[in-house]
Amino acid sequence: MQTRIDNKKIVLGVCGGIAAYKSVELLRLLNKQGAKVRVVMTQNARSFVGPLTFEALSGYPVCFDLFQNSDSKKDSSIKHIDWARDADAVIIAPATANIIGKFANGIADDALSTFMLALTAPVLLCPSMNSQMYANKAVCRNLSMLRADGYFIVEPKAGELACGDSGPGRLPEPKDILDRLLHCLAPKDLKDKKVLVTAGPTREPIDPVRFISNPSSGKMGYSIARAAEHRGAEVVLVTGPTNLPDPVNVKVIRVETAKEMALAVFEHMEEARIIIKAAAVSDYRPVNLAKQKIKKGKDEITLFLKKNQDILKELGRKKKNQVLVGFAAETENLEINAEKKLAEKKLDIIAANLVDSLSSGFGTDTNRVTLFYKDKTKEALPEMGKDDLAHILLDRIVKVLDVSR
Ligand code: CTP
Repeated sequence: MQTRIDNKKIVLGVCGGIAAYKSVELLRLLNKQGAKVRVVMTQNARSFVGPLTFEALSGYPVCFDLFQNSDSKKDSSIKHIDWARDADAVIIAPATANIIGKFANGIADDALSTFMLALTAPVLLCPSMNSQMYANKAVCRNLSMLRADGYFIVEPKAGELACGDSGPGRLPEPKDILDRLLHCLAPKDLKDKKVLVTAGPTREPIDPVRFISNPSSGKMGYSIARAAEHRGAEVVLVTGPTNLPDPVNVKVIRVETAKEMALAVFEHMEEARIIIKAAAVSDYRPVNLAKQKIKKGKDEITLFLKKNQDILKELGRKKKNQVLVGFAAETENLEINAEKKLAEKKLDIIAANLVDSLSSGFGTDTNRVTLFYKDKTKEALPEMGKDDLAHILLDRIVKVLDVSR
């Protein structure tokens, strides 16, 4: 499957900190995503992880000395200049106080700091050190200089540190560093745009321990929220109950019922330029909510349900200049149902899929949708990961925005 960093040339700079072991995992994750990764290490990093580990996993010689690298037969040491020219992005993880000081002051006295001076690609710097060191005035000053120079700084996580102290200083998990790399590389075509996304199921309580719901995992909506944030948007995510972590830099509002979702959505609709409703909203709720757990009794009981408000239809009625996008999960008559919803809810785009296959339905990591547009055209997309689908959907939304400008 193609990813956003497929074939991208990434240089991973590793410094001498205890978190260097996590760089090995990061390298593997980047490789899995299709990136071509070369490693440049400081001399101190070699005390924590051997260059051979990185060489074996990356498939490239590792550069750790200005005049020599891990396999001088395969590659000459001056190659780090070529690597700097070729790189699409650089990740420094872990970045020690020492290397941060060197980068901030233009010092080039080893392979990594020399490589950095020859570089024009974006740099993701992931500081990791003892929290007192991280709070040190000189380190803070150096970091703000690097920020001003255009470095992307990934804040360390707070927690227990290798030295026994507790506080900020831990290297974020590889998946979180990857998320920031995707942010760093994404086009910022949604900059200054406010995007409202809904995700997940809603739950309609029957009694204190039971509810009506559906198996929506929320993955599609979360992918859209993440992708919009990567592209520079200010994102509000209104989500029903899910097991997913909050996307970075996104305002997350957690709700349970369709009523709560409606309230949160209407509160934020005015300011949004783009509204994407990926939530699987319960169409009905029990008329009465039993105060106590309903006890087992008769062989058959009747549950009276009342229709919930159609949030998207109401958004369509109220909309001013928003681009409105809906989702439709169907079990039959995909085209007829999707076109009906597109018209009735006054949508710009509806992404419709059949929920009868393993690759396209609730809880899966992939989806196969057809996009139906307001101008009655449609576009059948192949099966793809939900992150990729999120970006394609945003590409199409950006086109709608360009036309309406
Ligand atoms: N939707 C909504 N509020 C509801 C029901 C649906 O906002 N009460 C939104 C969903 O978030 C989705 C779109 O409407 O973006 C279509 O949802 P779907 O469940 O497929 O369709 P319904 O309109 O509920 O129609 P039906 O259940 O009859 O297919």
